[in-house]
Amino acid sequence: MAARLLAARRVTILTGAGVSAASGVPTFRGPDGLWRQYRPEDLATSTAFARNPELVWEWYGWRRAKVAACHPNAAHTVIAAWSASEAAEGGRIPADVMVLTQNVDDLHLRAGTRRLVRLHGSIWEMSCWGRCSAGASPWRDENVPLSPMPPRCPHCRGLARPAVVWFGESLRAADVESAIDAAACDVFLTVGTSAIVYPAAGLVHEARRHGAFTVEINPDDTAASTIVDVALHGGAEQILPELDRLAKQDAGARLRRPE
Ligand code: OAD
Repeated sequence: MAARLLAARRVTILTGAGVSAASGVPTFRGPDGLWRQYRPEDLATSTAFARNPELVWEWYGWRRAKVAACHPNAAHTVIAAWSASEAAEGGRIPADVMVLTQNVDDLHLRAGTRRLVRLHGSIWEMSCWGRCSAGASPWRDENVPLSPMPPRCPHCRGLARPAVVWFGESLRAADVESAIDAAACDVFLTVGTSAIVYPAAGLVHEARRHGAFTVEINPDDTAASTIVDVALHGGAEQILPELDRLAKQDAGARLRRPE
C-alpha cells in the first residue's frame, strides 16, 4: 500500500465523518450518530429551515460549540502533510494529493490541508437565506455562541442560513467538477465514510473507472467495502499514521538502495 502511494502521480482522498470521530465530532450514522437522535428532515432541509429557523440554528449552534472544542487528530495531520506533498514543497509523498471532504467541521482546514474541496460546505460559514446579491456568497462567522440568534445577513439584515448543503440541495457545480476531475487518479482512498450519500459515494466508482487503485479505511464494512481493492479495517487516526510511517520507511530505503 505504501509502495502504491510512493509510485502514484495523483492521489485523491475522500473523507467523511469518521475521520473526525477521534477528535470527538459525532458521526451521522454511528451508534451515537446525529441521525440516531435527530431526523434529517427536521433539521437539515430548506423546508425545515423555512418552518423553524430558530430550531435549525439552535442545532447548528450546538454543533458549532461541539466542534469548537475539538482539535484535528492524527488522521487530519497525515492528510495535511500528504496534501503538501509536491517534492518542491518538501512533502512526504511525491504525488499531487487532492482532498475531498463531506465534513463541514473544517478540521482539515485547521490541520493545514491544501487542495481541499468541502463538498458539503462549512459549519463556520453563512449565506443569505433570501439570497440578496451580496449575501449569496458565503461569509465566515466563528462566533460561539451564535450572536445574534438567529444570525442575520450583514448586507440586507434578512435571515442568514448555514452555508452547508442540505438534503434536497445541489452541491456547488465547481466542487462537483473538481471532485470528478480528482477521481481520475492513481490511488483513491475513501476514509471514514459510510459511502451512501451521493454524489460523494459515487466517486469511488468513478475512480475505479479510471483504473485507480482503491482503498477504504474504516473500522466497519460499508457500501464501498466490496468495491475497493483493499479494505483496511481500523480507525483513520491509527491507520493513516501507520501508512505514513511505512511510506517514509520505503522512501528512505529507495534512497539508500545502490543503483
Ligand atoms: P456517516 O456517519 O454516515 O459514516 C461515518 C463512517 O465513519 C462510518 O462508516 C463509520 O464506521 C466510520 N468511522 C467511525 N469511526 C471511525 C474512525 N475512527 N476512523 C475511520 N472511520 C470511522 O458519515 P458520512 O459518511 O460522512 O450530509 O455521511 C455522509 C453525509 O451524510 C454527511 O456529510 C451528512 C450526512 O447526512 C449532509 O448533511 C448533507
